[in-house]
Amino acid sequence: MPQLIPYVGKEELENLKKVIANQWLTEGPFTEEFVSLIKDVTGAKYALPVTNGTMALFLAVLSLGIGPGDEVIVPDFTFIASATSVHFAGARPVFCDVTDDTFTIDTDKLEERITEKTKAIMPVHVYGQSADMAPVLQMARAHNLTVIEDAAQGFGVFYNNKHTGTLGDVGMISFFADKTITTGEGAVILTNREDVYERAKLIRNQGRSSSGVFIHPALGMNFRMTDLQSAIGVAQIKKFNEIKRLKSRNYALYRRELSGVKELKFLEEVSHSNLVPFRTNVLAEDKEDLCKHLEENGIQTRSFFFPLHRQPCFNFLGYREEEFPVSNRGFEQGLSLPVYCGLQKKDILNICSRIKEHYGY
Ligand SMILES: Cc1ncc(COP(=O)(O)O)c(C=O)c1O
Repeated sequence: MPQLIPYVGKEELENLKKVIANQWLTEGPFTEEFVSLIKDVTGAKYALPVTNGTMALFLAVLSLGIGPGDEVIVPDFTFIASATSVHFAGARPVFCDVTDDTFTIDTDKLEERITEKTKAIMPVHVYGQSADMAPVLQMARAHNLTVIEDAAQGFGVFYNNKHTGTLGDVGMISFFADKTITTGEGAVILTNREDVYERAKLIRNQGRSSSGVFIHPALGMNFRMTDLQSAIGVAQIKKFNEIKRLKSRNYALYRRELSGVKELKFLEEVSHSNLVPFRTNVLAEDKEDLCKHLEENGIQTRSFFFPLHRQPCFNFLGYREEEFPVSNRGFEQGLSLPVYCGLQKKDILNICSRIKEHYGY
């Protein structure tokens, strides 16, 4: 049983056929529709399609004019792209520990990370819930910092009725194959700031206002998507309610079946956010043994993120392990179980009984 099977089928295929029939492969009518649907769901004033989530983060950092000599505070517990986007913009990612309920940035530890070089805070909304944004925004205001939201995993996730990715200065959502809705590769930048939108739009398209023009007022690159991806995205976004329903149903079944297993701890469901299950995420003190047992029974598991401060590629930043107890614990104990739409009740019951068997229930 794999970790994930994307929920794609005939609707996506029909839309793809239309793109081929139309013979417009680069951003075209489907991209326009996709962007408009994204704005409807998120309420963002501006949305820009981007090649993938990593490039969207990079573009977000560039669009705020962050560069050499600047620092951006990033949670220690996230996918590597949150930090590499900062690095490749020439700035320094500064890591902050996370909370043990949602594994999102710990705002009690944020202030001590702020220096005179800090330009932005990057909360990351992981595992289908929002980071606690009010203290992040308040801290940003107090120190005159911008907020870049990594909502790669946050499609359909709202913080107190505001969609993740729309609360700060700029945000992004990824549509990679394992995300809530997917275009294979792909992403979107969200912002309510016209200046950020205009700057991101220029950088995204080779530093010019429109394609087919060879005078480039600004320096830019190619961060564009294709209509093939958007055609899939349009079909996916229309299925979102069904995707959410199926994933939530699967997640609820895990919770029910595993409720008596005291060796497992589910991530907390916080009141400031809805939950769109990204995976079924649990903590187990004997994670390695449990994963081995499940893998031996044909059930693919995923570890939680490896803390950024321990990443070999970030050795040069010189962090000490004891500065990040929660993120370390997340990696040591956290594992993800499949929750994808096509998972059947019998599959989940099988996974749960293997877990119970492992603990001798
Ligand atoms: C938290 C987080 N940030 C950034 C990314 C990067 O997105 P992408 O895979 O679309 O480049 C991902 C996805 O893998 C992610 O989970």
